[in-house]
Amino acid sequence: MMLLKTTSEPLLRVEGLSKNFNVAGSWPWQRRKLSAVNDISFEIAAGETLSLVGESGCGKSTAGRMLVGLSTPSTGRIQFEGQDIGGMSAAERRAVRRRIQLIFQDPYGSLNPRMTVGELIAEPALLHGLVDRGGARDRVAELLNLVGLGDRHAGRYPHEFSGGQRQRIGIARALAVEPQLIVCDEPVSALDVSVQAQIVNLLQSLQDRLGLSYLFISHGLSVVRHISNRVAVMYLGNIVEIGPKTAIFDRPLHPYTRALLAAAPVARPGARRAGTPLTGDMPSPLAPPAGCRFHPRCPLAVERCKREVPVLSHAEGGRLVACHRWQEIPAFQANASAAQHSPATKRLLALYRDAATRSNSHTNAV
Ligand SMILES: Nc1ncnc2c1ncn2[C@@H]1O[C@H](COP(=O)(O)OP(=O)(O)OP(=O)(O)O)[C@@H](O)[C@H]1O
Ligand code: SF4
Ligand SMILES: [Mg+2]
Repeated sequence: MMLLKTTSEPLLRVEGLSKNFNVAGSWPWQRRKLSAVNDISFEIAAGETLSLVGESGCGKSTAGRMLVGLSTPSTGRIQFEGQDIGGMSAAERRAVRRRIQLIFQDPYGSLNPRMTVGELIAEPALLHGLVDRGGARDRVAELLNLVGLGDRHAGRYPHEFSGGQRQRIGIARALAVEPQLIVCDEPVSALDVSVQAQIVNLLQSLQDRLGLSYLFISHGLSVVRHISNRVAVMYLGNIVEIGPKTAIFDRPLHPYTRALLAAAPVARPGARRAGTPLTGDMPSPLAPPAGCRFHPRCPLAVERCKREVPVLSHAEGGRLVACHRWQEIPAFQANASAAQHSPATKRLLALYRDAATRSNSHTNAV
């Protein structure tokens, strides 16, 4: 198992984390194993943002839920400040869990409609004994100001707020227990683009002011490009590439990362749209392909890929990549014009060229 070390001592270290669900089969008495997260490892430093990207169903939320204690890992270890959470007493675990909070896509679903915003924000702080009833009012006012709302909002109910304001309330509620790490699971996906930018800017300014770390889960690659320090790309439960944002976006190495970037919408009006999106559906996590889980969709796949699981190994730009053939990709690019390639390779080359064009247009636009 290969771990990409952060430059400073990590706040969080995840090693070999897997989650299997036992789901119903074709018949009521049958049970089947669903491999949602498969042996993932990563670290997050204090004050850092690591983004988790990948197609729907690849296991991003399941990974995030294990970090905040909403789901129990099937195997693997989660260490917070060097302490293994699995080996802790219930009281110790509760204390650590307070410091790892979750922000949802839809905070409305998690806000009790019968409680005022003030009560909702005070509740977790009171539960953890961080304030007493006398101090709760001031703390709520402080938190509301911190997230760009005012203490006048404390007496209102969640339905009286817009989507962006509700997300601010969700953030204030998470901040109430003084976390160090926040798992942001698609925090802006349900919002209008202009409101998305406001919430992303708020998250960044809170990070600067409070030294927070984020695990930022998102489908939106432009948001990820904006907010991340490092990016982890997930495919069918596995991390296939992880590294600094610039390495991943400017020169993606894994065929899946390249396809993902090629399929993303072009941000700059008038820029050329990537023409070769990822084809086919992601296979079912009930029966993940043997060898490299990406091989049925990978134009570069060879026999070895069907048998042998690629492990993460060090590659240029300070990243890790899990592919048997990533070293050959620059040669594929260099020989693109001269060589007679198979249709599959031609498809791949077109895809890489489009990804590179997109990267350049992004670089110019940002
Ligand atoms: N409680 C559960 N029971 C059974 N299967 C589950 C459960 N939770 C998630 N899964 C399955 O695990 C896989 C990963 O789901 P997960 O929600 O983590 O994906 P995701 O990457 O967050 O997707 P999305 O981008 O759509 O939110 C999916 O196949 C999903 O159906
Ligand atoms: S290991 Fe093989 S199938 Fe998997 S991404 Fe690399 S080339 Fe494609
Ligand atoms: Mg999800």
